[in-house]
Amino acid sequence: MSTESTLSIIKPDGVEKRIIGEIYSRFERAGLAIAAAKMMRLTPDQARSFYAVHKDRSFFDRLINFIASGPIMVQVLTGNDAIHKNRDLMGATNPKEAAPGTIRCDFARGIDDEETHRNIVHGSDSRESAEAEIGFFFKPEEIFVQGR
Ligand code: CMP
Repeated sequence: MSTESTLSIIKPDGVEKRIIGEIYSRFERAGLAIAAAKMMRLTPDQARSFYAVHKDRSFFDRLINFIASGPIMVQVLTGNDAIHKNRDLMGATNPKEAAPGTIRCDFARGIDDEETHRNIVHGSDSRESAEAEIGFFFKPEEIFVQGR
């Protein structure tokens, strides 16, 4: 596997629960480096643009209201097989289906199916989406890949 970069977001529920540090520790213990990071709050328009691929889904409005409801922590993670590694750390989209020891199982426990948007983290699902999502949030000069 080659070195990859992926986009990660700690959503408003993760920021509110004060688990940014815990989640960053999991990334670093798994061999992923934080190559860029910023805290920000998305406007509803920015949120709609970021999640445009889901615009026809029944949960779209709930997802947009939620992701724009408070600050998020956005980071670029780099490392060997970073896209899959990050998704393994996150666990399944629906926290009820996430394996024990994953971020979503450990920190989004107890939310029901209509609240699947409150699943603590987002991570790119492919090389194509990683490139597009990183470009959505960061300029090239804001990304610091070690050993480059
Ligand atoms: P994320 O990885 O950010 O990508 C899309 C988001 O939509 C997903 O995590 C969830 O937060 C949210 N979502 C809400 N309901 C659903 C659902 N039923 N299926 C998939 N995603 C959902």
